[in-house]
Amino acid sequence: MSDWNAETAEWYAAKYGEYATNRLAADATEVSPDAVVVDVGCGTGSALRRVAPRVPDGTLIGLDPIPRMLEIARERASEDPNGHRIEFREAPAERLPLADDSADLVFAFDSIDHWQDKAAGLREIRRVLRPEGRLVVVKDGGLPGGAKAKREFLAELDGSGLTVMQETNLAEDNVTCTMWVCGVA
Ligand SMILES: C[S@@+](CC[C@H](N)C(=O)[O-])C[C@H]1O[C@@H](n2cnc3c(N)ncnc32)[C@H](O)[C@@H]1O
Repeated sequence: MSDWNAETAEWYAAKYGEYATNRLAADATEVSPDAVVVDVGCGTGSALRRVAPRVPDGTLIGLDPIPRMLEIARERASEDPNGHRIEFREAPAERLPLADDSADLVFAFDSIDHWQDKAAGLREIRRVLRPEGRLVVVKDGGLPGGAKAKREFLAELDGSGLTVMQETNLAEDNVTCTMWVCGVA
């Protein structure tokens, strides 16, 4: 899907900009205080704002290819006590503006299904992850949709050089999602 633009960014931010999956998954993720955390397809930056207090000595980078989405992310960060520590950059998953072996933790929360080239995006994430680094993927939806999402995700991961290390189902009220923690294969 590539129909993200200023209009869809505003719609998404108003309706799902603080969606519970970001909070649930960020809270369920292990992170070191000095980690380099990169959120690919960061949307409004809500996952990075949530994890920021646990990364006081680290680096927080939000990437999204849609300029209007990044404007909204910067606006929301400016109202957050830790927001000034988040750096937002315009970039798609397929071309990450990061050095090889430079990230400890990469988030892709409800993001992969929106990339133009999933295989290229996952190869990029493998390139920038440090050897002990982790990719955390979230896909929205519960069973039976969750089972389908799992099959699709495992197929997407095939050949990426990444492998699933942990799967967790998260839920709050009527929101459900599956979170996969992946490491270098
Ligand atoms: C469903 S939103 C999820 C946003 C955020 N991660 C969240 O969970 O709230 C999908 C995001 O992917 C971004 N996106 C679109 N194409 C992309 C691409 N090629 N690479 C990375 N992100 C992309 C969109 O701009 C949008 O912010």
